[in-house]
Amino acid sequence: MTDEAETTGDEESAEGEPTADEATDGEPTADEATDDGYEYDADGIRAGLDADFAVEYHETLGSSNDRAKTLAAEGAPETVVVADEQTAPRGREGREWSSPAGGVWVSLLVWPDAEPAATPLYTLATAVAITEACREAGVRARIKWPNDVLVGTDGDRGGAKLCGVLTESGQTDGSGTDESSRDDDTAQSGDRWLVIGIGLNANVDPAALPAEADATSLRAERGADVDRRRLLQTVLDRFDELRGDPDAVLPAWREYADTLDRRVRVETPGGTVVGEAVDVRFPGSLVVRTDDGDEVVVTAGDCEHLRPIGN
Ligand code: BTN
Repeated sequence: MTDEAETTGDEESAEGEPTADEATDGEPTADEATDDGYEYDADGIRAGLDADFAVEYHETLGSSNDRAKTLAAEGAPETVVVADEQTAPRGREGREWSSPAGGVWVSLLVWPDAEPAATPLYTLATAVAITEACREAGVRARIKWPNDVLVGTDGDRGGAKLCGVLTESGQTDGSGTDESSRDDDTAQSGDRWLVIGIGLNANVDPAALPAEADATSLRAERGADVDRRRLLQTVLDRFDELRGDPDAVLPAWREYADTLDRRVRVETPGGTVVGEAVDVRFPGSLVVRTDDGDEVVVTAGDCEHLRPIGN
């Protein structure tokens, strides 16, 4: 951590500030220019948020996932760690990630109710929530299996990357758990935690991101900044709804899927699978029909969208 965190778990707004309803006038807007009296900081994000997350805001942080993992080891309540800028962000599979100021660089510390086998649903729920928030902001986002959020159809990926998700999980062993800092319904020794890291290119210039990332941003797509506070609140509230309604996750994911009905190559720990992506199955596996007609169920791997045969 490189700065002092500003934290709030308090849903009440400060005296004299608009209530959430006054702030938004009941209308979903995602315009950074909206002068609603709230900042993109811990109090602003907490105000009007339905989901019961504490919020910790940092101007600068190494990696919000690392900070959330520290909170997990301390047995902290469910917390959203937000950074305006990250100096040591991590991507999936040890890849680099770029986090200049202006993005939505966030990690959710979650204590899941679900069985360990079901936890991939949380990541899929996150991708759905992000996609819906981007659409509310006017950008027609789609999901590439398992949880990249893309825009458009160009590029090697079949679209430019708007957002990536890095989920990490673990179990408290008791040695680092400070149960006194938690309510009765929160972690006990041995509880499983999830840290869901969201890297959403919001108000950043794609030219500031590595060229090989083939990335875009909400600002670039809509031609104006987004209201990151509203955007993040939408993501968090929708994620919270979906985790409470696990049966809704896969249908919603399918609705926004860019991968289904496409020819794909998936690099899995067990080898390469090539074929048509025909479905997503609980808890988030991709079903690929190979050229010899077999259906292979892929639980993890890197997916590439291919051009249809003959094109
Ligand atoms: C990917 O490789 O597609 C996933 C990238 C995830 C980046 C986010 S930014 C917030 C959080 N903190 C990190 O260090 N990584 C994730």
